[in-house]
Amino acid sequence: MNKIIAFSGKGGVGKTTSLVLCLKYIIDNRKAKDLLVIDSDPDANVADVIGEEIKFCDTIGGKMKLLKDKIQGFKVSPNTPKNQLIESDVFSCLIEMDEFDLLEMGRQEGEGCYCFINDVLKKVIDSLSKNYDITLLDSPAGLEHFARKTGRDVTDLVIVTDPSKMGIHTMKRILEITDELQLKFENIWILGNRFPDDLKVVLDEEVQKMKKENVKLLGFISNNDEISKINLMDGNLLELSKDNPSYQQAKDIFAKII
Ligand SMILES: Nc1ncnc2c1ncn2[C@@H]1O[C@H](COP(=O)(O)OP(=O)(O)OP(=O)(O)O)[C@@H](O)[C@H]1O
Ligand SMILES: [Mg+2]
Repeated sequence: MNKIIAFSGKGGVGKTTSLVLCLKYIIDNRKAKDLLVIDSDPDANVADVIGEEIKFCDTIGGKMKLLKDKIQGFKVSPNTPKNQLIESDVFSCLIEMDEFDLLEMGRQEGEGCYCFINDVLKKVIDSLSKNYDITLLDSPAGLEHFARKTGRDVTDLVIVTDPSKMGIHTMKRILEITDELQLKFENIWILGNRFPDDLKVVLDEEVQKMKKENVKLLGFISNNDEISKINLMDGNLLELSKDNPSYQQAKDIFAKII
């Protein structure tokens, strides 16, 4: 299996939460031998949710800042290709956890370099992910990375939405952009997070109205107090109890992808 699953959607709808529930499902059920999580959100969300503290210098943003300082201070030979330097730095950012490897994007400092770094990052993601059975990608809230085609090699795009007009609007925008840029995903999955039972039909209808063969409703994860509590108390979402109803739902829905 070689799957790259990206989680996207409006800010705050539950992308990181869904990704970590998916990660828990994969770990608990031994669905992958080699597992990589890439947190491309500059606010370093995944680490927060699993109770890990990652220093800025261990993120890609941090390494890039160091590299920039070195280049500006003429501590790097001008003949060394920048791409090569960036690539080796990205590899050195891999954080090895017990059950998976984690790559944290971190903040990007300085104007202008984002596009270039993003480009290199995309190449690195492509080559890195080949070494893993499953790669989970937490995407930033914005749509700019889609515009740069960083999602090209993603096999499954999961668009998360909460029961809000804005969440559904962003979901539609992401779909429009994937069409405009002709991005190819094997599957596009719509995941409804925190929908009360009586509103599930609304999302179901929205998906049906689209009449797109590769866009399918993945299912729903209910609002859950234990999830809120873990978040508020700085706990580890991977330690959510196995009989938690939202985790049960997550297991059922992610079994459709993996
Ligand atoms: N099903 C749920 N039940 C209870 N709380 C939830 C649920 N889903 C998400 N939350 C809470 O909602 C908040 C936002 O969730 P999350 O961080 O996963 O969203 P996000 O889309 O990754 O946000 P961002 O765009 O800022 O990265 C968090 O406090 C999280 O604990
Ligand atoms: Mg997040």
